[in-house]
Amino acid sequence: MTVERAAELLSAARKGVAFTGAGASAESGIPTFRGVGGLWTKYDPVKVSSIDSFMRDPTAYWMVSKERGAIALAARPNPGHLALVALEAAGFLVAIVTQNTDGLHQASGSRHVVEVHGSSRTVQCLDCGIRESRAVVQARLAVQMPPQCKSCGGTHLKPSVVLFGEPMPVAAMHEALALAQSADVMLVVGSSLVVHPAADIPLAAVRSGATLIIVNAEPTPFDSLADVVIHGRAGEVLPAILSLLNA
Ligand code: APR
Ligand code: ZN
Repeated sequence: MTVERAAELLSAARKGVAFTGAGASAESGIPTFRGVGGLWTKYDPVKVSSIDSFMRDPTAYWMVSKERGAIALAARPNPGHLALVALEAAGFLVAIVTQNTDGLHQASGSRHVVEVHGSSRTVQCLDCGIRESRAVVQARLAVQMPPQCKSCGGTHLKPSVVLFGEPMPVAAMHEALALAQSADVMLVVGSSLVVHPAADIPLAAVRSGATLIIVNAEPTPFDSLADVVIHGRAGEVLPAILSLLNA
């Protein structure tokens, strides 16, 4: 019933927008932050992933990011990513707004992707500003902790992601909110919807009259606002919806 209803709503979408979180990459092997086995069930995000703690001690951040980064660099798109590509190609989605920084939406072939929490594919030295690829810095972690800037020797190398306490990328947030406010269907995939201001994006869609579909492994605070809630795995539910659309 609910997969059918989700397919029906998407088939009528003139401007469908997807909003994804860590659950969309879980079946690619990248641990989520919350929920069962989430990263923040093991570490205090303020201590290991806030800009204040990073500036005081980059090592605490990199000790966690070293492991997660290796997993993310090796990760490949899962059937959920591929289903979103097909939904966009068939015109049921016009864009994907993602909280994820792993680049898997782009790697799977999604064309219009808005990264509201930045990208972990590049690393920037906060001391001199030069940028390096994450893969190059990841390799240095084997012998350097925290990694040092190859140009100035500084130790404040930070992936181009939004840490707690940092402002959101203005252009990305502006584009994401404009997409949400003009969407007629908002498809949330794999997000706990507890982190703001990112979670304000699907909320803006609902407030502008969009129909909300939530595909998530666990309940979210927005479930009561949704027309359809499917508690399941993105890699199974999204292909099931797609198969009903013959896309
Ligand atoms: N399919 C669908 N949902 C899943 C799956 C799956 N295979 N596996 C887990 N989930 C759900 C979890 O139940 C959880 O509710 O995905 C959700 C992921 O929630 P979070 O880990 O909180 O991820 P997200 O919502 O993206 O977090 C937002 O918080 O720590 C910050 O910057 C980080 O971008 C992140 C932000
Ligand atoms: Zn530097």
